[in-house]
Amino acid sequence: MKNIKAIIFDAYGTLFDVNSAAEKCKDKIGDKWEDFANFWRTTQLEYTWLRSLMNRHKDFWQITEDSLDKSMKAFNIDPTMRDELLNLYKVLSPFKEVPEVLKTLKEKKFKLAILSNGTPALLNELVNSNKLDNIFDDLFSIEQVEIYKPDSKVYDMPIQKYHIKKNEVAFLSANTWDVSGGGNYGYNSIWVNRNNSIFDNLDYKPQIEIENLSELTSII
Ligand code: LAC
Repeated sequence: MKNIKAIIFDAYGTLFDVNSAAEKCKDKIGDKWEDFANFWRTTQLEYTWLRSLMNRHKDFWQITEDSLDKSMKAFNIDPTMRDELLNLYKVLSPFKEVPEVLKTLKEKKFKLAILSNGTPALLNELVNSNKLDNIFDDLFSIEQVEIYKPDSKVYDMPIQKYHIKKNEVAFLSANTWDVSGGGNYGYNSIWVNRNNSIFDNLDYKPQIEIENLSELTSII
């Protein structure tokens, strides 16, 4: 990938492991922890898309709570675990290769940013709690435009701020629909296919597919 000026990362699922909150409680939740975590994540994303379509915006933290409440009922999780799960969601762990790769990219002087559904407060806490606060030039939150991904207003934020062309951006996401959103907008897209998944049929295929971020330094 040539002439890249900015590398923009999705946060949840790409840099930070959304299942790590439930995983840290797996002794209490039992074997169903992973199905529960996936259901929570899917419901959370559905609520972002539905609220955008209904024009009834709520921020990502409220949506995370609403989707957790449904998921806890669906999986019969002890209601006293609610606060513990929510607090763990604020300090999700990064995938293991992430800190080292980000440091290397930073040394190469790329502009590095997060572009996420998360609120500014959530993104700050995620980055600070994982000691990644000196890495990013910007943490772009959809709260600035009050509509969720994949609305093009979201992907437009870094372009407006950096005054660069869409094809000077490398956009990375592990979420297939987010790769399609960024790709259809005009970014160079890289799909971080962490779980050997199948890509979507949304009139866009990623330019590059990698298993995790380690391969990134040789691509850009
Ligand atoms: C985000 C979600 C899509 O961080 O993972 O925006």
